[in-house]
Amino acid sequence: MKVTLLAASTRINSNSLIASKAIGKILTGLDCEVEIIDFSNRPQTELLDIVQKDAEQESEFIKTALAKISTAQLVYIVTPEYNWMPSTTIQNFLHRFFNKNFSNVWSKKVFALVGVSSGRGGRLPQLEISKMLNKLISVDGYDSIVSPFFWESQFTQDNNLDDGSFKNGEYAEIVKAIVKSNIHLAEIWHKGLA
Ligand SMILES: Cc1cc2nc3c(=O)[nH]c(=O)nc-3n(C[C@H](O)[C@H](O)[C@H](O)COP(=O)(O)O)c2cc1C
Repeated sequence: MKVTLLAASTRINSNSLIASKAIGKILTGLDCEVEIIDFSNRPQTELLDIVQKDAEQESEFIKTALAKISTAQLVYIVTPEYNWMPSTTIQNFLHRFFNKNFSNVWSKKVFALVGVSSGRGGRLPQLEISKMLNKLISVDGYDSIVSPFFWESQFTQDNNLDDGSFKNGEYAEIVKAIVKSNIHLAEIWHKGLA
């Protein structure tokens, strides 16, 4: 299965990137093809321009990101929690690109969510992004779905190493179970679409 992860923090070496690498390692171990799109250092202006341009006019980063989402069966949105909310980066990206001009990018997907915190957060941004995705999916009638299997990555810097390894084996097993549930759901979903 092809899986693309959006690490939706603009901070360099963000906890969102660390959590994405952790999931990426689990997915690779389960024979998935993994792509991580790292939003670190991306300018907000790249995402804020609400003028609908032709896809060819977008930056190479955006074109690559859209192409990698388009070819994936399972798409992970890994968002930091900022004041209980998802990052503006991921919100702007979805406002800007999740529309009919790019319908081929978003159809036939299972979306999985991760909320990232350096403390006890991580739940609320997933709920916000799931609401947003359900709105986008339902209004334009995409054959995509949001998985209910959430991972709140709490105390991310304490539980994970920078390369995406887990420091705690028991914790790693819990995350692995969530990832497996998402893969299982994606398998069922794509079988139904075939
Ligand atoms: C402006 C701001 C607001 C934050 N608000 C919250 C919050 O509401 N809940 C929480 O658990 N962590 C909060 N944090 C801490 C983040 O969880 C922490 O910075 C985390 O590493 C963010 O992920 P990132 O490294 O991927 O950007 C906040 C951080 C910033 C910079």
